[in-house]
Amino acid sequence: MTAPRSTLRLGTDAASLAEAGRLLAHGALVAFPTETVYGLGADATDSAAVARLYAAKGRPSFNPLIAHVPDVESAFSLGDFNRNARRLAKAFWPGPLTLVVPARPNGPVCELARAGLSTLAIRVPSDPTARAILREAGKPIAAPSANRSGHVSPTEAEHVLADLEGRIDAVVMGEAAPVGVESTILACLDDRVVLLRPGAVTRDSVEAVIGQSVAEPETATEDNPLAPGRLTSHYATRAPIRLEATSIGPDEACLAFGPEWPAGAHPLRTLNLSEKGDPVEAAANLYAMLRRLDGFSPSAIGVVKFSRAGLGEAIFDRLQRAAAPRGAAFYDLSRI
Ligand code: TXA
Ligand code: MG
Repeated sequence: MTAPRSTLRLGTDAASLAEAGRLLAHGALVAFPTETVYGLGADATDSAAVARLYAAKGRPSFNPLIAHVPDVESAFSLGDFNRNARRLAKAFWPGPLTLVVPARPNGPVCELARAGLSTLAIRVPSDPTARAILREAGKPIAAPSANRSGHVSPTEAEHVLADLEGRIDAVVMGEAAPVGVESTILACLDDRVVLLRPGAVTRDSVEAVIGQSVAEPETATEDNPLAPGRLTSHYATRAPIRLEATSIGPDEACLAFGPEWPAGAHPLRTLNLSEKGDPVEAAANLYAMLRRLDGFSPSAIGVVKFSRAGLGEAIFDRLQRAAAPRGAAFYDLSRI
């Protein structure tokens, strides 16, 4: 299993998207934009392609992948959707929501992509480029975020190349991902709806659709298959992250949010997620700004305190994981 030597850049015209779909259907690794972040696609029915995908990302293989399909009908053919799951699919698909449901017995998604689980994570993205590629591929496409495992997720094609150039077959050079944080993951395996990962679809909007409170997952461990991907240390930058910073040291960078800057923030090493305090704008800026601040090689990145309401929950979740003590999931950018 040798890594590809060069990574093809593809445009977003119809012929290029058809080419991306064809490459995926033939077992290639192709990164493409979605509305949340860029994904690294592989044919979810082909275990050799999925094995190459895990290797390219350096991802622990116990971590299952999301199967992406172009429409709700294809999604329904892959899993058993109970009443809540159907309601959520109707309300939020196509869009930034992933549903974990029991996989259809003898379904097409290979065991490796499911990491041996009897459940399956499914998403119907809304991004027109992603949907065109999925339609052309004609198969469910496994697509984790297109970054080295444990690293900050890519919201621009250039971020993908910075992490994976030479390790994957092609990148579709689309626009910046408009949402900027990953999809919300909900498990619908019994009467409850369990929030496995906060994301672009907020808790409140989910509760409004199902008419009940969202349940919390049990604590994730490597042995607990309920939420296998919730590694504590994730989305890591090279510089340590310090949350709720009220002042910034001379060697530190600052991630601000809202009109106020903390004391000591240096104008050349401060980026503002959203000056007007808008969480939607903040989510779209989050990963690109973390990468830029990390590029200054600061001693730490101080992040100001902000509201965790709405999309703030997903932003806080990602920052908290980026701030967590580094485990096996941390990938050192300087060694790429
Ligand atoms: O927005 C997104 O969801 C992006 C774009 C590319 O679609 N994809 C993404 O994939 O974030 P990834 O692989 O980085 O995150 C998928 C998460 C992991 O935490 C994984 O453990 C969880 O989904 N997951 C997948 N299958 C699961 C299952 N059967 N049960 C519980 N969690 C599952
Ligand atoms: Mg990821």
